Amino acid sequence: MKNIILTGDRPTGRLHIGHYVGSLRRRVELQNSGNFDKIYIMIADAQALTDNFDNPDKVRANITEVALDYLACGLDPAKSTLFVQSHVAELTELAFYYMNLVTLARLERNPTVKAEIKQKNFELSIPTGFLTYPISQAADITAFKANVVPVGDDQLPMIEQAREIVRSFNGLYGETLVEPKAVLPSNKACLRLPGTDGKAKMSKSLGNCIYLSDSPEEIKRKVMSMYTDPNHIKVTDPGNTSENPTFLYLEAFSTEEHFAKYLPEYANLNELKAHYERGGLGDMKVKKLLNAVLQETLEPIRLRREELAKDIPAIWDMLYKGSEKAKAAAAETLAEVKKAMKIDYFANRQ
Ligand code: TRP
Repeated sequence: MKNIILTGDRPTGRLHIGHYVGSLRRRVELQNSGNFDKIYIMIADAQALTDNFDNPDKVRANITEVALDYLACGLDPAKSTLFVQSHVAELTELAFYYMNLVTLARLERNPTVKAEIKQKNFELSIPTGFLTYPISQAADITAFKANVVPVGDDQLPMIEQAREIVRSFNGLYGETLVEPKAVLPSNKACLRLPGTDGKAKMSKSLGNCIYLSDSPEEIKRKVMSMYTDPNHIKVTDPGNTSENPTFLYLEAFSTEEHFAKYLPEYANLNELKAHYERGGLGDMKVKKLLNAVLQETLEPIRLRREELAKDIPAIWDMLYKGSEKAKAAAAETLAEVKKAMKIDYFANRQ
């Protein structure tokens, strides 16, 4: 069996460091590992429209923002196919047939969808397109026969639902589709980076993000005003590191080399944590280290992004080529699906 990756993001804003440690960094590693036959990275504009149908300008503008973030992080069009979901109409057709295999009750049980419905105040009247996006996501994954889907943990219910669709499709119509599995970040802090305000999730609407495109001054300002342990008032007070976003960020980003370079009196994060927990270590010192680590990590990404942003037509050109390639691959799967479903009436006509 081939090793194929498909993953993607909704273009509703620039990508932030939560996206980076949660999935982007891993994708680049997997891309460069040479272990995959094909890698598809999708900008999910059609899915973004399921809750932004009244704001297509926002979705359109963010397609290039997300593409710039991808390329700046090291995704390489020579190794990975970067494409725009809506260009691949075959995905919509697959989703339509998969809808027969999923009940309304099953859709309403999806915990991520449930949380989003609440957050968006869709409780009284849920747009059908929104409720069914997990089915469209199953189409995204299966159209490319992807077996590996690198995502954050909020996407696990989508992958589970895709697996169920594959099993019921193959059971009914014969072995056609490939069951995908999710690949999550190995480090727990990377699974869900909290916001700079200590809230559980980094999210644009909460205004608690550090973006990949933030200037050095913005990064510094955001780090210096980060929420820490509210009970760590005097430097001598014992502090909490497990719910303290400054330490969670260090968990996700810092290495022993960073300690040797910026804070050599500690060998590693464990020593720094132990000191904070004992008492006697001030928040400012931790924040200064975190700022240095983030500046070092984000600088090359930001510089590459600034360079790429000078030629936006080249970004659209790259996306068009990728989208044409993705369309051809999805069309092959769609033909197999139609054959399995015995609706390939005209397949043999010239
Ligand atoms: N749901 C993902 C997000 O919220 C985007 C997405 C759409 C996706 N289709 C996908 C991710 C298929 C992985 C696989 O960003």
